Amino acid sequence: MTTTPTAQAVPLPAPHSSGCPFAPPPAYTEAAATGPMTRADLPDGSSCWLATGYAEVRTVLSDRRFSADVRHPAFPLLVPGSRETLVTDNPSFLRLDDPEHARQRRMVTGDFLVKRVAALRPDIQRIVDEALDRMTEGRTEADLVTEFALPVPSLVICLLLGVPYEDRDRFQFLSRTLLSRESTMEQLKAARDEVLEYLRTLAARKREQPEDDILSRLAVRDDLTLDEIASTGVLLLIAGHETTANMISLSTALLLEQPEQIARLADPAALPGAVEELLRLLTIVHTGLPRVALEDVELGGVTVRAGEGVIAMVSTANRDEEVFGGPDRRPTDELDLERDARRHMAFGFGVHQCLGQPLARAELQIALETLFRRLPGLRLAVTQGEREFRTESFIYGMRSLPVTW
Ligand code: HEM
Repeated sequence: MTTTPTAQAVPLPAPHSSGCPFAPPPAYTEAAATGPMTRADLPDGSSCWLATGYAEVRTVLSDRRFSADVRHPAFPLLVPGSRETLVTDNPSFLRLDDPEHARQRRMVTGDFLVKRVAALRPDIQRIVDEALDRMTEGRTEADLVTEFALPVPSLVICLLLGVPYEDRDRFQFLSRTLLSRESTMEQLKAARDEVLEYLRTLAARKREQPEDDILSRLAVRDDLTLDEIASTGVLLLIAGHETTANMISLSTALLLEQPEQIARLADPAALPGAVEELLRLLTIVHTGLPRVALEDVELGGVTVRAGEGVIAMVSTANRDEEVFGGPDRRPTDELDLERDARRHMAFGFGVHQCLGQPLARAELQIALETLFRRLPGLRLAVTQGEREFRTESFIYGMRSLPVTW
């Protein structure tokens, strides 16, 4: 078993190419072509592993010998020096291992179950329709990101959490800061403190006057501290709108390039599968999912030593020809809304697999079907080259998407 693969170390995070804006950075796909495990260099000068193969990514995300605990001294960080700002006494459960992770996740699982989300569909449909009414009233052109892709998931998660939507500008700004690799340490720390304080105050208020929302349900429990509630609240607030918002805008931009595929969204039987294919191809966490090995693990022809970091690159795993290809299919780096994409890992895999995936699926299905049904003449209002992508964020996406109809 070798520990030194021949391929060159990949610098993390790698830049996006000036070619296809929907593709992950070429350095990751090139690494995947040389083998499933490659060495990578982190911005602070330390190194870690990059897992790019489908089977290896699955193992990293589901094998308990890999930890998601951000407090581990070797946890790989893409923002140099961010350990002090990210490592608090109360990391959200996204960055904790079981049993602590499971204890905190269990408290919100019920709110995101498939049947709970199914009951929310009429609310989501109303929110989508109202956003489109506002966007189109007396106009023939708008920025789809600010007028549709962002407000829809933002309104939905505010409704679920019980966060006043009037405060959205502030927390959208704060979550952008927290998700940007270009934020300075001071900006990260200030944004983290402000959003935590905001949710602590709100949770304290709901403890006194509970309503029918997630924050209230957490606030009235006596086995959670206000700090724990605040960090779960931040996780849900950020995960709940930035991810889905960017999926809506990227999916729209991609579908406008391939209008012949849009008709599939109108078929209720085909819509869920079409959304899975968009999730697979776009896999918006372009920077990968970080973990650290707790023991030596033999993986993909190398030995990952205890205490070494690993980045699980879901975007390359989701393009594996063996899993998603097949003789009659388009290549896996191309959109094919008829593909069976259900085994994708755009929502991660294992115990940390996305809690909000039933909600994200419902939002994407309703938003995309309604958008193209109500605006059949939807097209770009700028040239393809003028579209602006959000490359600096941990969640890949679009800054703006000017459209007309
Ligand atoms: C298309 C939209 C979304 C995508 C692509 C996405 C993707 C992901 C991924 C890849 C993970 C795993 C992270 C890891 O293993 O390190 C994750 C976790 C998580 N997501 Fe999502 N997500 C989306 C929408 C949502 C929504 C709407 C919510 C709801 C509030 C949400 C809440 C969460 C939470 C709470 C976790 C942490 C789960 C845990 O650690 O047990 N996500 N998401």
